[in-house]
Amino acid sequence: MITFCEEKQIFKLDTKETTYMMGLVDGEFLGHIYYGKKLRNPGGFYRFRTDEYPMSPKLLPREKLGFFGGFPFEYPTGGVGDYGESCLDILNEMGQSACELHYVSHRIEQGKPSLPGLPASFGLKDEVETLFILMQDEVLKVQVELQYSVFEKEDVITRSVTIHNGSDHTYRLTKAYSACLNVEKEKTELITLHGAWARERHIDRRELFHGKMRVSSNRGETSHQEHAFLGLVTPQTTQSSGEVYGMQLVYSGNFTANAERNMYDIDRLTIGINAETFSWKLSAGESFVTPEAILTYSDQGIGQMSRNFHDFMRSHLIRSPYLHKDRPILINNWEATYFDFDTDKLLSLAREAKKQGIEMLVMDDGWFGKRNFDDNSLGDWVVNEDKIKGGLKYLVDQVNAIGLKFGIWFEPEMVSPDSDLYRAHPDWAIQVKDRSINMARCQYVLDITRKDVRDYIFDSLSAILNSANIEYVKWDMNRSVSSPGSFLLPEDQQGELFHRYTLGLYELLDRLTTAFPNLLLEHCSAGGARFDAGMLYYGPQVWTSDDTDAVERLRIQEGTALLYPLSCMGAHVSKCPNDQVGRRTTMKMRGDVALSGTFGYELDITAMPEEEKAMIPTQIENYHKYHHLIAEGDYYRLHSWDDKEPYDAWMVVSKDKSEALVTYAQVLGRPGYKRILLPLQGLDPAGDYILDGEDAVLKNGEMPEYEGDLLMGAGILIGNSGDFSSKLYHFRRK
Ligand code: DGJ
Repeated sequence: MITFCEEKQIFKLDTKETTYMMGLVDGEFLGHIYYGKKLRNPGGFYRFRTDEYPMSPKLLPREKLGFFGGFPFEYPTGGVGDYGESCLDILNEMGQSACELHYVSHRIEQGKPSLPGLPASFGLKDEVETLFILMQDEVLKVQVELQYSVFEKEDVITRSVTIHNGSDHTYRLTKAYSACLNVEKEKTELITLHGAWARERHIDRRELFHGKMRVSSNRGETSHQEHAFLGLVTPQTTQSSGEVYGMQLVYSGNFTANAERNMYDIDRLTIGINAETFSWKLSAGESFVTPEAILTYSDQGIGQMSRNFHDFMRSHLIRSPYLHKDRPILINNWEATYFDFDTDKLLSLAREAKKQGIEMLVMDDGWFGKRNFDDNSLGDWVVNEDKIKGGLKYLVDQVNAIGLKFGIWFEPEMVSPDSDLYRAHPDWAIQVKDRSINMARCQYVLDITRKDVRDYIFDSLSAILNSANIEYVKWDMNRSVSSPGSFLLPEDQQGELFHRYTLGLYELLDRLTTAFPNLLLEHCSAGGARFDAGMLYYGPQVWTSDDTDAVERLRIQEGTALLYPLSCMGAHVSKCPNDQVGRRTTMKMRGDVALSGTFGYELDITAMPEEEKAMIPTQIENYHKYHHLIAEGDYYRLHSWDDKEPYDAWMVVSKDKSEALVTYAQVLGRPGYKRILLPLQGLDPAGDYILDGEDAVLKNGEMPEYEGDLLMGAGILIGNSGDFSSKLYHFRRK
């Protein structure tokens, strides 16, 4: 619920468990007051008194700069004396930067509008309410509309900003962030995600120091390295208790997320498009819309932040018709064959896969042009009939006849120098004048800021998708953007390339999903470099990492699940020893870990050890038994493995608490320890639960029963077992 208290000049935004408050000083300056546990009314507690704020410019005009230096601006602007991280920097027609926003008006609406050209959350009129606050710089004649959408049930507030040039001049935006949040706590710690190829989204946590800390990308994609997310906690915060603020961006391009502790120990969190690689010409009458930021707060620990984000994305961000459906269990030929495959090989995989209960074959990289290695043919989306003998339709028909669906891989944004496309259109590659383009994986990036390039991509993909019964697409991107120049953009708009690239990508994804509404789309970027909320708006799943080793996946999936629902995480059982790290894990553990994602296989099923193959039907049975829980349930992280306690554990609980699945993975044996006691979470303390399925020991013919409070208070006993062992425990309410 959103209210405005006229008397106190305070906006109060309430969700089920939280309150967000901001207020006006002198009727002009919008400042942050409070974000935290739900409050009863706007008069109870607030950081500044709107009528007698000691340094209000009206009361003390000679110290206006002092006021600007300390005031917790809701949307700080540059050049006027707020020396913290600004959210908005505008150059006037002289190239000077200053902007001072004054409140003009506000309105409250039921529902939430979409954002032009950008992915954004949505909701029905009775699910979300939106506050629009109009601010203006009177000198520039620039209007800034701050948008706050309140999702009551999920405890989420989304924000975005529209900047409108209402003057006759042309201005330049050099920074336009999506959100700012001021938090005042004695001591805080920052949680971020970092990584590399094959090591995505590991969790970092450290104390905030005075000054600025930031994570960002300037690679033209979200990146393996850093993530558009900040979690702010107190030192006492754990998975299940304590305060946590979460902020993330619905965006797939260059982002920045900054945390700044100022001289008064106030933390300012800001998030938005990375200003380092951004500038935008804003001509008279034009508007610029920022991507959306998602904010949540809980005093129930980090786990509750994750559950808020998961619920929110499942209900209000992911649009795919597959969101609430079991995804087909797929077998992907990449790690099975790499580029070395043909129709016969794919059909032999399909036949064996069908016998084991697998439901879809995905043909990965290498089916087009003359591509037998990664140094050619990207952009030439024509089937290589030397490999795909009989053509694509023949292959797909045969796979369908075996009883499997068919999926295909593309890397639409790329071009190989050795391709017909590049030979015909060298100017379609992103490049800087007179400079050779730095190659990565022997390829260039197409300039999808151009409509002609986007049309070519859309037409090529459509032709392939229309030529056979293709039900799934894996959209890959295997290099970052560099040499950021476009042949078509005018000189004074070259700084727009990165954001326009992301907008071009969104336009393409929108066209594709509109033209092929039943397509199951899996995003990918050299593994998981584009796992973000923006991509999830278009497709319900993302390939989490090229690292398919079960142990490496524990940390990668834990970090990913900090923000994203398990049903979004592409996870496959692969061969042993693992291609990325050479580790030998058990087939059981590989299966149990992949089960907490979309689930599939990525190995040569015709050549794997028989004893491992014999486990596939059980793994598939588990998927059918438990996937509804994994996809729709509440996620609880129970333990994170380290050298001292080398076991990982998490669980999912159905919304009605009638069922739960616990996954336990022991990375190393623990010599000398007999067992561990693992307290569960999220159950009904008053409920009685029966442990069934795996590890359920029959006592006198009856299933063992446990009380919910015992399971959570004391825990379940897990016997010590060897390296790479794992367990699935299923509880159902009696
Ligand atoms: C990177 C992806 O992450 C892999 O799964 C595979 O599709 C390769 N690209 C193909 O080039």
